Amino acid sequence: MALLAAVSFFGALLEAFFLVTVTGVAMALVGERPAVGPILGQTVALGHALLIAAIVLIVRLILNMAGVRTSADLAANVTTDQRFVLSHAYLETDWPTQQAEPAGRLQELLTTFVLRVNNTVVTLTQAVTALLSLLAFLGAGLLVDPGSTLGVLVALTLVGAILAPLRQRIRRHAAASAGAGVNFANAVSELGSFGLEMHTFGVERQISDRIDELTHQATGTQRRVLILTQSLPPVYISLAYAAVLGGVGVLTLVGVDSLTVIGTVMLLMLRSLSYGQQLATASGSLAANAPFIDQIRTTVERYESHAAGAGHRIPGAVTPLEALEVEFAYTPERVTLFTATFQIQPGEVVGVIGPSGAGKSTVAQLLLGLRQPTRGKVRVDGVDLRDVDKRWWSSRVAFVPQEARLLTGTVAENVRFFRNGIDDLMIVDALTQANILQDVEALPSSFNTHLGQLGAHLSGGQRQRLSIARALAGKPELLVLDEPTSALDGASESLIRDTLEALKGQVAVVIIAHRMSTLDMCDRIMVLEAGRITAFDSPANLHRDSAFYRNALAVAGISMTSKD
Ligand SMILES: Nc1ncnc2c1ncn2[C@@H]1O[C@H](COP(=O)(O)OP(=O)(O)O)[C@@H](O)[C@H]1O
Ligand SMILES: [Mg+2]
Repeated sequence: MALLAAVSFFGALLEAFFLVTVTGVAMALVGERPAVGPILGQTVALGHALLIAAIVLIVRLILNMAGVRTSADLAANVTTDQRFVLSHAYLETDWPTQQAEPAGRLQELLTTFVLRVNNTVVTLTQAVTALLSLLAFLGAGLLVDPGSTLGVLVALTLVGAILAPLRQRIRRHAAASAGAGVNFANAVSELGSFGLEMHTFGVERQISDRIDELTHQATGTQRRVLILTQSLPPVYISLAYAAVLGGVGVLTLVGVDSLTVIGTVMLLMLRSLSYGQQLATASGSLAANAPFIDQIRTTVERYESHAAGAGHRIPGAVTPLEALEVEFAYTPERVTLFTATFQIQPGEVVGVIGPSGAGKSTVAQLLLGLRQPTRGKVRVDGVDLRDVDKRWWSSRVAFVPQEARLLTGTVAENVRFFRNGIDDLMIVDALTQANILQDVEALPSSFNTHLGQLGAHLSGGQRQRLSIARALAGKPELLVLDEPTSALDGASESLIRDTLEALKGQVAVVIIAHRMSTLDMCDRIMVLEAGRITAFDSPANLHRDSAFYRNALAVAGISMTSKD
């Protein structure tokens, strides 16, 4: 920035010098004199003056080019930097903060909003250039004729002050425009994921109407900002010319003694006005961009204030995993999980059942350390999960969500999921364990087969088994599955059950189950009803003690086959 300032200041001084010299030459020709001057106390021959002017012109061009380069470098650096800061802050923020972010907002911030930052840097460098050039010109003007230069300075300040309310309005409308932009991005990204439903229910028209409406809102505010920013320069020019008119008026009243001086001053002042106009334009554009930059800044601050996992303790093992009087509430008004105390032992398979909305997924997220208990604590081998080193923890636990989510990439990439420590052998192992190796080997390039957008061409059961392979590839000590088979057919479910059965005794498993048939291999089953653990025991004991369990079995048409 300092380099840019220096370059533009000297560039403008050279330009002023050039204009003074050229006017001097013109005046000398008119007056039929053989020399120019005095310029800076020197009288120079006409030929020399022209040569000096030419050299000055070339040096100025070189300086300008250096300025353009510096400005572009600066803008590119700032853009890279903003994307880096924003995306890292997002990735390092905790799960509750990420989960609460509307779809499409981050994308909008990283693209449209960051472009605004880029634009602001360019504008800012232009403004600095214009300001310093203006100062250089006014400085040159002071040397030639102090009186009229001061007059111009007063006029410029006045015009700038008159335009202040206009800039305020631009800023207000730009803030609305930023909001509308985010809304639009949210809606597009959300509606975009509803292709299947849209066609099935035949609501293409309604959805396009909704998008049209949001488009109008977004473009409406944009239009207002555009009108205001575009009207700044003409308003400025009119006011500035009015000031020039006033100045000339004063001169006619006072009278002029030197034609060269008046000519030079007029030329310098007109050029000053054009730099002033650049400043006015820049100030409008800065006002229009400010709300976008504010949003990026406040978002980064919010992400950083919710940064995940700062603990550094390394427990002996992931189990025993205990919940000690854990209570959890998403909002202060409503408790989702009432005081719960329980333990999960090494290699134990724990089932979790309960009606929809009972808090099963919440318990899973608490056990994985994705959410912090509102009261009480989760302990890992005696260490508070909050204090556990996040890397250590992440490399030892795994999660299988209800709906498998696959990347656009190969089977191997999907199983590895960015974890560098997982080699091909471990991938084959995991595919075997997840009962999907045969299916993968049937693909054209085995596990190097590209799956296409979001793993299309695979059945739901195959996708879910790949998701389980992903979870097992890291050789976890704790595996949490949230209704992994609820959307699958009986055959797929049975394959997954085989997988889990084989893990028994080696990996601690918490499986939230929807289908009762998944549960017969569990060592213990937790029954969760309306945020309370109403039973937590072996299937045999539950059959005796839990009405919910007996009822659920009956509904599933399963008769209890006692294992002991
Ligand atoms: N992110 C969230 N914000 C606020 N409330 C939530 C959130 N997730 C779940 N809940 C609420 O917490 C309760 C338990 O949800 P959940 O644990 O998902 O139940 P389950 O998995 O048993 O169906 C529900 O009433 C649900 O509405
Ligand atoms: Mg759930």
